Amino acid sequence: MTSPSRTRTAFPAVPLCRWCAGADVEFGWYPSALLEVADALPASARLAAACRGTGDRPLLVRVADALDRYRGPSTAPGAVLDVGAGFGGPAAWLRRERGLATFGVEPSQDAVAAARGLFPWVPMVRGDAQRLPVADGAFEAALVLGVVSLVDDVRRALLEARRAVRAGGVLALTDYVGLDVPARSAGRDPWSGGHPLLPPGTKVRLLRDVLATVEATGWVVAESVVGPFEPDEPWVTEREDVDRVVESHVARTPHGLGAACRRALRAERRARARFAEAVDGGFVTRLALVARAV
Ligand SMILES: C[S@@+](CC[C@H](N)C(=O)[O-])C[C@H]1O[C@@H](n2cnc3c(N)ncnc32)[C@H](O)[C@@H]1O
Repeated sequence: MTSPSRTRTAFPAVPLCRWCAGADVEFGWYPSALLEVADALPASARLAAACRGTGDRPLLVRVADALDRYRGPSTAPGAVLDVGAGFGGPAAWLRRERGLATFGVEPSQDAVAAARGLFPWVPMVRGDAQRLPVADGAFEAALVLGVVSLVDDVRRALLEARRAVRAGGVLALTDYVGLDVPARSAGRDPWSGGHPLLPPGTKVRLLRDVLATVEATGWVVAESVVGPFEPDEPWVTEREDVDRVVESHVARTPHGLGAACRRALRAERRARARFAEAVDGGFVTRLALVARAV
């Protein structure tokens, strides 16, 4: 008796969509998905969800207070350039809460569209920090919030910010920075995906290098704070609620090239958690500084 022949079922290979395959979610489809659900969100949730680099109001308050302090009592507030403005949250908050005339420059088309949809009263244009599409000295201040870890050339970006700001004006910069190169990463780039704790593509710069580059590009550091921030709990909660709304919205869209992908959203969250581990592990901390243009 012969055994029944076994037939193998050939399942078609399911191609990974570009989000599953590692394309950036946060500044890829997330802003469009956020925009699609925006009408259902209260104004405070829109602001919380649109602050992606600073994440918290204490920092924005610190930025606004520094601008007030250095402007002097009698001078009217000038224009403030938000470089790498993301979804426009910080520019919108500073405009609404502190009356600053903020303008955003942001390279991601999707992020610009989200910012314009969420906060149509904040002017926002596409552009790169390393080649700002603005006139010399047109601004009283430049904000560079969460951008230093993403630009290729930090020196070029800070020179451009300096060109955009009048003499005596202000730079407010914040980002995660490395305290030192971890010893066990010898022989490989510890910050750009070589380090297992950090998401690929994150270019964490060393604190000392950022400070030296600020000073070498026409700025003098007036104040700097190094160390973790108290989380802004109400905003953290609102952001998580918005993420859930976005996730259930995304679950109803077809999966595939160009479509939003839940699996990738979860991977993005894991990457953020890995980054938080790096912060907790003491490899990375947060820098907030204010500098004057000389
Ligand atoms: C962490 S997010 C911060 C967004 C915003 N500043 C905030 O605090 O909510 C970093 C932003 O930098 C932008 N970015 C990346 N490369 C850039 C570049 N070369 N020039 C300007 N912005 C850039 C990203 O598109 C993203 O919107």
